Amino acid sequence: MSYRIFITGSADGLGLLSAKQLVALGHRVVLHARNRQRAEQALAQVPGAEAVLVGDLAQPEEIRQLAEQANASGRFDAVIHNAGVYRASAQEILWVNTLAPYMLTALMDRPERLIYLSSGLHLQARPDLKAIVAGGIGYSESKFYLVLLAKAVARLWPAVYANAVNPGWVPTKMGGPHAPDRLEDGVATQVWLASSEDPQVRTTGRYFHHLREAPYHRQADDAKLQDAFLEVCAQVTGVVFPGAE
Ligand SMILES: NC(=O)c1ccc[n+]([C@@H]2O[C@H](COP(=O)([O-])OP(=O)(O)OC[C@H]3O[C@@H](n4cnc5c(N)ncnc54)[C@H](OP(=O)(O)O)[C@@H]3O)[C@@H](O)[C@H]2O)c1
Repeated sequence: MSYRIFITGSADGLGLLSAKQLVALGHRVVLHARNRQRAEQALAQVPGAEAVLVGDLAQPEEIRQLAEQANASGRFDAVIHNAGVYRASAQEILWVNTLAPYMLTALMDRPERLIYLSSGLHLQARPDLKAIVAGGIGYSESKFYLVLLAKAVARLWPAVYANAVNPGWVPTKMGGPHAPDRLEDGVATQVWLASSEDPQVRTTGRYFHHLREAPYHRQADDAKLQDAFLEVCAQVTGVVFPGAE
């Protein structure tokens, strides 16, 4: 079976390697990069990709345009929300790591599978929705909100498989050269969730690490917090989440 898969932030790191592996497995992969130059570089590294879409995820208007481009390009079977920043301002972390996945999920035609790249650091989060309204959050919180989003989607959209992944600490631009885990292990889970025929991937609202379910921040199961998060994101982005009205 060949799937059509969109991967955000696929000009480098885990997104790029996921794209290469999914193309090698025979899937139709659409890349994404922040600007035209990065898009050309991404395509040069994954020549088998179907296309590359452009949009800076720190810019709300570009996130909207990216969703429009994605919808105009045709239906996706899976979307991997991979793009992320670590050493960045609290505002950039909020938009790239949390609000862009929120907006793209809400604005793009629903795929069958949604995968959100979280992090083990999400366990240290102290969720405070007021910080989203104030315009900036920390990295751990941004990754906690992706687990919360996956679980909210799983609850509100039962026809979609929505899951979160901790890729481990791997040697990318973000992870640095001394990261202890192997890059290959850091992509295996999202590649599996996006493309496998294994009945085990037909699951939703789960948090995975290295192909297995792993312990996660318990507040992610709080349906009231999920609803409040979607409401705050709608307030800040102007995009209401379908099904949460
Ligand atoms: N590496 C780790 O150890 C680790 C651990 C836990 C979780 N994660 C998560 O895994 C995901 C991938 O991380 P990585 O290690 O592969 O990081 P990376 O090598 O830094 O790659 C991040 C990707 O996101 C893109 N990106 C960043 N800001 C963007 C923006 N404003 N607009 C569009 N694209 C943007 C980058 O584009 P450019 O290349 O143009 O900058 C790059 O393609 C992230 O969500 C990260 O939080 C990584």
